[in-house]
Amino acid sequence: MKVARYNYAHQLGADIEPLIADLRAMLVGGRYELTAEVKQFEAELAQFLGARFVRGVNTGTDALVVALRALGIGPGDEVITQANTFNATVGAITLVGAEPVLVDVDPETFLIDKKQLSDAIGPRTRVLMPVHLYGKPTPMAEIVALAEAHGLFVIEDAAQAIGARIEGQSVATFGHFGCFSFHPSKNLSAAGDGGAVVARNAELDEALRRQRELGQVGQNNHVVVGFNTKLDALQARILSWKLPRLEQWNDHRRKAAGWYRERLAGLPLSFQARAEGETHAYHLFQVRMRERDALLAHLRARDIDVVIRYPTPIHLQPAFAGKGWREGQFPVAEQLARELLCLPIRPDIGIDEIDYVADCVCEFFGKTARR
Ligand SMILES: Cc1ncc(COP(=O)(O)O)c(C=O)c1O
Repeated sequence: MKVARYNYAHQLGADIEPLIADLRAMLVGGRYELTAEVKQFEAELAQFLGARFVRGVNTGTDALVVALRALGIGPGDEVITQANTFNATVGAITLVGAEPVLVDVDPETFLIDKKQLSDAIGPRTRVLMPVHLYGKPTPMAEIVALAEAHGLFVIEDAAQAIGARIEGQSVATFGHFGCFSFHPSKNLSAAGDGGAVVARNAELDEALRRQRELGQVGQNNHVVVGFNTKLDALQARILSWKLPRLEQWNDHRRKAAGWYRERLAGLPLSFQARAEGETHAYHLFQVRMRERDALLAHLRARDIDVVIRYPTPIHLQPAFAGKGWREGQFPVAEQLARELLCLPIRPDIGIDEIDYVADCVCEFFGKTARR
């Protein structure tokens, strides 16, 4: 058996003719930029999230960049985030000229360590940027309260967590801005790149819109220096096609995660801790164990598409060599980089596939599968 990580045919559905017809009409009709399709997707996503202000942008990275710029963040400002995130979080902070300040993460949840976050706040701190990593929502109440107490902004990096909720409230709606990615790997994916930003209020939304659209307030009237990073109209149509099934897909991901947890219980490995009241989007299903690299090879040899997210933590990436970070500075992030392995999880993964993966993991440990 072969267990894949993605199945795009499933995401598009059996009959894609109506979608193709729409895309054809858009192509020949020249409906490319900030069209009705973009506005429609923004409205649908806002409804899905229970948000009022959503803007589509070109990528999840750009979503973070324009959110930072809309808050006026730049040189001299510090933004605090976590050492185990994807490169783009810290890249975005650096791209606007601000200084990223890293903190370590909790060894059970793999999310930002709140005590260290609080301790890292200094006179130049302007933004707290937690990441809802692997689809698990970061508890936001304390972070929002901390930001309020210090007069700081909050930007949620929700790139991996569309559909994740805390007590029913969607991620990306707690902070001043929340950012999503529709990269093909994500739970809701475009046929290429895409992203979106949720704003807390109309004023922030307008500041964001200007950053997205060359600082314009009407044709030929550029009031600030902005980027040009709009969600492509064809991608918006594709995202609208998929969005109605996202909730069902995330439900299936949660079910699949439960199957893995059941079948792998008792083995010398652990999982990302769960919390009361959270709705995990299970963008990734992580197992943590000492002999990670040997298990990776064992599963790949059995046609299981496992992957490491992420093998090198931010502070050890060559891109940030100038920041003065050193090995050993964020020990939990470093240990997780050595010990985490993503097992395949898809909205259509079958129980037979989960059984096969679990059997192969059990085989690795010399145990019989528990079924
Ligand atoms: C945590 C995180 N932040 C930001 C991004 C950037 O998104 P994109 O690839 O759409 O630029 C990603 C995904 O790639 C991500 O996983």
